[in-house]
Amino acid sequence: MAAFVSDGNSTINAGLLAAILKDSKQLPEMFIESDQNHRPSLESASLEDPDLDIPVLDLSFLAAGNSTQRAEVVAAAAKACQTWGFFQIQNHGIDQKLIVQCEEEAHRMFQLPLDVKERCHRAPGATFGYGANTWINQKVMHWAESFHMQLNPTSNIREMASKLFPEGSSSQQFSSVVEEYMIAVENLASQVLEILTEGLGLEPSCFSQYLRRERMTSMRFNFYPPCPEPSLAIGLRAHTDPHLLTILHQDSVPGLQVQMGDKWITVKPRPDCFVVNIGDLFQILSNTRYKSVLHRAIVNSESRRLSLACFLNPPLNSTVVAPPELITPECPQVYRPFTWLEYLKNAYLYHPTAGNERHERFFLKTMVDVHTVAPSSVH
Ligand code: OGA
Ligand code: NI
Repeated sequence: MAAFVSDGNSTINAGLLAAILKDSKQLPEMFIESDQNHRPSLESASLEDPDLDIPVLDLSFLAAGNSTQRAEVVAAAAKACQTWGFFQIQNHGIDQKLIVQCEEEAHRMFQLPLDVKERCHRAPGATFGYGANTWINQKVMHWAESFHMQLNPTSNIREMASKLFPEGSSSQQFSSVVEEYMIAVENLASQVLEILTEGLGLEPSCFSQYLRRERMTSMRFNFYPPCPEPSLAIGLRAHTDPHLLTILHQDSVPGLQVQMGDKWITVKPRPDCFVVNIGDLFQILSNTRYKSVLHRAIVNSESRRLSLACFLNPPLNSTVVAPPELITPECPQVYRPFTWLEYLKNAYLYHPTAGNERHERFFLKTMVDVHTVAPSSVH
């Protein structure tokens, strides 16, 4: 495997990665996770233990307009965000057919020959295109391929689709399905944002401006092929999402795990649901009431797995700061104001190696012992 040695600063090109994934019977060394803290455990006890289950919330009131049900969901969502930073939503209003179509387009894209996918190559440290999701300071390779696109404020979907599918109708089909899916998720996200804002005791529309004009919306397809030695590899290393909100759809194969204390809890696959999680920005806006929690994707030897992760963000130049209502003597202001652009500059470059350290750069400088005021920093 000498040809695949990585120097730790440059990531292997995605072409080689896919070739290894296809023909490998044994895990090449560069995929072996040596850091025990990042070694996956494949036990799935949490799938059977109701106490260790990420809550599933029923959003049917959005269509029915039932205010009692809404109040219950607001309270349950707030509790989930304070404890788990994650929850699932069912009866969310997005047509299951559209979800399946988008999954089909993602599979169609990953099944393209490598040299075609490489036309959208994502360089290490870059955000969009086809690549291996590998942070600059990360030594171990993810057992995955991914494709990241942006819809807003400017879309790169059609441009990338025309490189992948030179035939017009095929490229058109890919773009329109992906766009329709992302627009539906954006609408859902605005409603989820209001529910979560209300759960903080604020006016539901208090943060709505963040997802209006010039908002930043992207989607990453994550594809995890079957892996010959899943207990040694990792699909996506433990990380927090830097964004405001993530709305993820996973297929029926388990793999997404969320950290709770010293345990990793598997999020039960529910193809009728979306998984919602709080990103760093929301933790910051909520003055740490809501948690941006470490999560990861593990792999298995039997089945391929696909997730569609939509990331919802404010305009690049918008200032991120907790509102005065959330700054109290018991919960003083934890972060200084900053712009999303400032945060994003660091967000994808370096993998947080010791928990969620990325947001710590934005603590108010006057803080003496930051770890006592920001519990998530010790995850
Ligand atoms: C992500 C992520 C998990 C998964 O894309 O940020 O956490 O299950 N994905 O693919
Ligand atoms: Ni994530």
